[in-house]
Amino acid sequence: MLPSEIERLVREAKAARKKAFAPYSAFTVGAALLTDKGKIYHGCNIENPSLMLSFCAERAALINALVEGGKKFKALAIVSGRKDYCFPCGTCRQMLAEFAPDVEIYLASEKGIKKFSISELLPYQFKKT
Ligand code: THU
Repeated sequence: MLPSEIERLVREAKAARKKAFAPYSAFTVGAALLTDKGKIYHGCNIENPSLMLSFCAERAALINALVEGGKKFKALAIVSGRKDYCFPCGTCRQMLAEFAPDVEIYLASEKGIKKFSISELLPYQFKKT
């Protein structure tokens, strides 16, 4: 990914974050997922008073993409309001491992942008076969 492409994806994640519904945690997250065909899908966290039902931004982007027919994923940008990086939760890591095993994950914060792979974030991942 070119630096300009990464910056664009981070901008898209920041825009998606504005749509977050997070009145219970006051912690908003945005994600933007780029396919191999150049299409970008967005996600934000959506909370519920039954807190276990809250949905993460990363999975929202992934589900959006899968529903619309996205198949191969090149890069994912994740942003939050935190000063430090916002790492995807365990559930999102497992979902990304299934549907986007080769995705480049870019975490952006005021500290800059850091790149990770799924195998770095989820080593020894659960597989049935
Ligand atoms: N959250 C995400 O959207 N992505 C993450 O990677 C971690 C956490 C959301 C879930 C919940 O709405 C809020 O952040 C606080 O945990």
